[in-house]
Amino acid sequence: RKKVTIQSLQAQRRNKIPITMLTAYDYPTGLACSSNPDIDITLVGDSLAQVCLGHSSTTELTLAEMIHHARAVSRGTAHPLLVADMPFGTYHISPSAAAANAIRLIQEGRVDAVKLEGGSEIVPIVRQLSSIGIPVMAHVGLLPQRYIAMSGYKVQGRSAESAQRVFRDALALEDAGAFSIVVEAVPKELGTFITRRLKIPTIGIGAGPGTSGQVLVWDDVMGTWPGHKAKFVRRFADLQTPRDSGVAAYASAVRDGTFPADAEGYTMDKEEWEKFLA
Ligand code: KIV
Ligand code: NA
Repeated sequence: RKKVTIQSLQAQRRNKIPITMLTAYDYPTGLACSSNPDIDITLVGDSLAQVCLGHSSTTELTLAEMIHHARAVSRGTAHPLLVADMPFGTYHISPSAAAANAIRLIQEGRVDAVKLEGGSEIVPIVRQLSSIGIPVMAHVGLLPQRYIAMSGYKVQGRSAESAQRVFRDALALEDAGAFSIVVEAVPKELGTFITRRLKIPTIGIGAGPGTSGQVLVWDDVMGTWPGHKAKFVRRFADLQTPRDSGVAAYASAVRDGTFPADAEGYTMDKEEWEKFLA
């Protein structure tokens, strides 16, 4: 498949071909996302912090860690558009600091675009990045980088007032130049409404079936995340069971001496062996 572009994503939105986005954190998961022509976007999400690095929240992730992992994902990425989250604290201080950090993600992390969480308060930053040719994916609704300020991971936009705020934020971010927007954990009515009123593709996670596309976290899809399962997660595979049985089978074969077998090693010419012993 040819490389996915912002223009081809717009065409999918127009033609109502749902956009597929899946997260990846290293070379093998990057390769896996590229293995299927029906994956449109690979996201190096800052969920990297929890599912891959064992931190307790995304706020602990540094820019250096994100660059290191994005670079690995990029080596495994072919056709999907490659997007990376800007970690907490790397885009709020000023538009020029945000631009410097986004440029590092592009040059060192080798991604095509960056994703930023926030509403109208980050419009100047989105405008700055977009104006210098850095494609920005926005992210509204539930903002995991603000889980303390929001008193937990909670559905957003359930009251008329909160829904208005999410909708206005989305409009402002589109106006600021975002090429696409993630809408996380909002009622399905709002996910559909935002999608109809915006001109850019919306990518939903817990935002119902009415968005232009969907995104899920790799470990949630594969059933390898041992922590909380959000309401909007569907496990499409159970890799934990075969993974654990692989570990168990290896350990028991070593313990009982059935690994390695003769065929799983090398031999020496008898003559050479005798020379060696002499
Ligand atoms: O960090 C992440 O994985 C994300 C997606 C779930 C949207 O931001
Ligand atoms: Na994220």
